[in-house]
Amino acid sequence: MTDRAKSSQGAANTGLSPDTLAVWAGEGESLVQGATQVPVVYSAAYGYPDVETWLDVAQGKKPGHIYSRNTNPTVHAFEEKVRILEGAAAAASFSTGMAAVSNTLFGLLSPGDRVVSVKDTYGGTNLMFGEFLPRFCIEAELCDTTDHEQIEAAIARGCTLLYLETPTNPTLKVTDIARLAGAARRAGALVVADNTFATPINQNPLALGADLVLHSATKFLGGHADVLGGVICGDPDLVARVYHYREITGAALDPMAAYLLIRGMKTLALRIGRQNESALRIARWLQDQPGVVAVYYPGLETHVHHDVAARQMRGYGGMLSFMLEGGFEAVKRVLPRLRLAHRAANLGAVETIAGPPATTSHVECSAEERAAMGIPEGLIRYSVGIEDAGDLIADLEQALAVA
Ligand SMILES: Cc1ncc(COP(=O)(O)O)c(C=O)c1O
Repeated sequence: MTDRAKSSQGAANTGLSPDTLAVWAGEGESLVQGATQVPVVYSAAYGYPDVETWLDVAQGKKPGHIYSRNTNPTVHAFEEKVRILEGAAAAASFSTGMAAVSNTLFGLLSPGDRVVSVKDTYGGTNLMFGEFLPRFCIEAELCDTTDHEQIEAAIARGCTLLYLETPTNPTLKVTDIARLAGAARRAGALVVADNTFATPINQNPLALGADLVLHSATKFLGGHADVLGGVICGDPDLVARVYHYREITGAALDPMAAYLLIRGMKTLALRIGRQNESALRIARWLQDQPGVVAVYYPGLETHVHHDVAARQMRGYGGMLSFMLEGGFEAVKRVLPRLRLAHRAANLGAVETIAGPPATTSHVECSAEERAAMGIPEGLIRYSVGIEDAGDLIADLEQALAVA
């Protein structure tokens, strides 16, 4: 496969597996002087010897870069890698996942528009719907995440944009992307899906009918908890509208962050394969533990939408959560005893990370708001790393002994 082919085809038609694409995709164009790795290009602007060439590049008639708030070679290589793995025609990156979310919403919506979404989106996204969009007279109706009839009815009442996130943070609820994308299409609405938890290794929302797929690259894409970033992929016209909003408002990805994301993504398929296996094993084990009253993981046959997950996902991901008998007091006793987990507000890394929603996904919400969203105070969100699953189970076992 030529470099050109590598950067111009989607995962669906390269003939290569995602494992191979995670390593090679998107990098050909950016290599210079025989470097085998994408260079970090720290240049605010790009100079041209003559005005004609400069003008052609500025007007998009010739390839090249003008100013790094708009485009940058290292950032471009990262966008290409995600784009190809998602099987998309276009991609744009952002300084954080929340910049991807907010730029997508503000880039595509206008006053009077109506968003339909679910109650269980990431806390920051939830605040976009509840706090920021209403200031611009954009209504957001948030439905019960697992009630597909309710979501369809809300779409039928009028919908400019359907915003999905599946599996959800932190209770791992699953929504049927193909079914709801169909309903959105009939209503003339755009569909945006946050694929952060699943990653393109486990799920491709565009293939299920979404118009745009979105990631907090900070999580599994980067995979090493050392960098922030966000990315959207999908329909070129929609990506261009969101990109235009970003290039003017300025939440561009830093070239060093892009480099770290590219490096992290080379092992994406390896990491996700391991995390899929370990999370399923740990979730099954947790189900039988005294003091654990519920385990949330889409790969469990007991999960309320396991059938939907089995249809739309190739693996069930590295995220799970479980509820302790004894509520928040039990969480405060168990968490400090974990030896193989960072207690931190992050997920998707090579190290296991654990925390309660009150200090992680839903830190912005009050206990009452969390309760209204169906997030129990006794919940522990557990992001499975790449450690040996047996070691993680032994660690959980000794920690749970005090529950
Ligand atoms: C599902 C999901 N989407 C978006 C975000 C926001 O990403 P970032 O923290 O990179 O801004 C997060 C953060 O935890 C998340 O979990």
